[in-house]
Amino acid sequence: MRVLSAEGEVLGHGHFSPHSQIRVRLLELGEQSSGEALLTERIHAAVKRRSGHPLLEGCDGVRLVHAEGDGLPGLVVDRYRDTVVLRVGTAGMARRRETVADALVEATGASRIYERGDAAALRREGEAVQEGPLRGEAPQEPIAIVERGRQYLADVVSGQKTGFYLDQREARNLVERLAPGRRVLDLFCYSGGFALAAAKGGAQSIVAVDGSKQALVVAEASGAVVDWVKADAFRFLRAAEPGFDLLIIDPPPLARRKSDVKRASRAYKDLLLHGLRCAAPDAQLLVFACSHHVGPDLFRKIVFGASLDADRPVRVLGELGAPTDHPVALDHPEGRYLTGLWLEAIG
Ligand SMILES: C[S@@+](CC[C@H](N)C(=O)[O-])C[C@H]1O[C@@H](n2cnc3c(N)ncnc32)[C@H](O)[C@@H]1O
Repeated sequence: MRVLSAEGEVLGHGHFSPHSQIRVRLLELGEQSSGEALLTERIHAAVKRRSGHPLLEGCDGVRLVHAEGDGLPGLVVDRYRDTVVLRVGTAGMARRRETVADALVEATGASRIYERGDAAALRREGEAVQEGPLRGEAPQEPIAIVERGRQYLADVVSGQKTGFYLDQREARNLVERLAPGRRVLDLFCYSGGFALAAAKGGAQSIVAVDGSKQALVVAEASGAVVDWVKADAFRFLRAAEPGFDLLIIDPPPLARRKSDVKRASRAYKDLLLHGLRCAAPDAQLLVFACSHHVGPDLFRKIVFGASLDADRPVRVLGELGAPTDHPVALDHPEGRYLTGLWLEAIG
């Protein structure tokens, strides 16, 4: 649709969402519209930017399109070897899925394009959720991928999001390097991204906890020596004995809306407080919040509060976030959704 100024001047073109709070996702400025050719052009450009990128070397799993960060609001595309998975979150993109699928085949040469729907977002847009193969057949089983020598399974059909959390790639590198000889706790482990990195790095022992049976079935198929536990991670942590040297706490988004922030802050603090209680002397902790409503400043304050309440001082060794294939547009700061801190318990 065209976007007009109060005077009737054409300002640009975008996708209209009559049922959403965000009425228009702007795609281009100016009077002329490139129409659907713009989507094709931007998909090709996004794929080209990743191709041969030195920081993506050795990775079978790559995010090819990161919504606004690639000028394509409402569209996320991940590649797992020869399978490309798209996830649409707006009515505009849902209605252009065929154009998107054609462009992805052309740009990637992949034999299979599979669609996953962002159910919550599409519901808000008044759009039906559609899932299944758009080109080629649905994969019969999770897809084996290698990420810098680490082996994983991406459950494209039944897993969460597009099947795997590509956004934690850099933090997995860190876990692998910190792991040797450590007793590791991976809370909210999903299919074992961090736990398997710790196993490859030579951890002494690994406990990994998630509430999803389906995710743990995929994790267990790795055959790694990990104690996989199906449990509520909050309850598990409250009851856990101290003695972990490396803790990873990566909960689901606890603040999906701004109005959730207060409640979410309490939940993060609870996790951090008990995480610190279970941390061995000089333990390392990697803690995350994946909601743009809880940014770095607030998250540091929450960590500080937990540290005071636990009577356990910590120092920040580094900041963690999504990798290079998850770019953020300067005019869309909400695209920076993953905040992480690498902490060290002092004593
Ligand atoms: C952000 S994902 C974790 C991703 C994972 N760390 C990785 O890198 O692949 C959040 C995970 O928390 C799990 N989850 C949500 N609520 C939970 C709860 N109360 N207890 C345990 N697991 C929970 C979900 O099943 C999901 O696997």
